[in-house]
Amino acid sequence: MEKRELQIDYTVYKKKYPEEYGTLCEKALRVIPQAYSVYSGFSVGAALLLDNGGVVMGTNQENAAYPSGLCAERTALFYAGSRYPGAKVKALAIAAFDGGKQTVRFVPPCGACRQVMAETIRRTGDFDVVMMGAEETAVIKASQLLPFTFDLL
Ligand code: THU
Repeated sequence: MEKRELQIDYTVYKKKYPEEYGTLCEKALRVIPQAYSVYSGFSVGAALLLDNGGVVMGTNQENAAYPSGLCAERTALFYAGSRYPGAKVKALAIAAFDGGKQTVRFVPPCGACRQVMAETIRRTGDFDVVMMGAEETAVIKASQLLPFTFDLL
């Protein structure tokens, strides 16, 4: 028998956004009004920085048949994969408004989005995920968000 441990490393910034991702963070915030979140009132914005310098943004898109909706992160990741299949993802910033106000705490992505990020890592390499909140923002490597990733290849 052998006991093993996993360590997850991330960096927290109080109030301010990390300097190198300032513009990306502003874009994640700015796209939030375009969310379609009539059922939850929780509006999420995602901004994806590509190695070609482009930024792809996405918002959550809800549906009356709840599971048919899609999170902001996957909206952006799938759009980037469709539009710029060869581009590497450098960073993904995520922000959310709950009931019209930015969340105080940073927003960690859901499990399904982490799984899609794992596929992105496999295709184009690891990248930073910037999880934003009004009081603090955390930066973590996408690979750290989903340890023990299922991988067929
Ligand atoms: N949502 C996202 O867009 N990203 C996440 O990582 C978690 C949740 C959306 C889905 C749904 O439209 C709303 O937030 C409430 O769960």
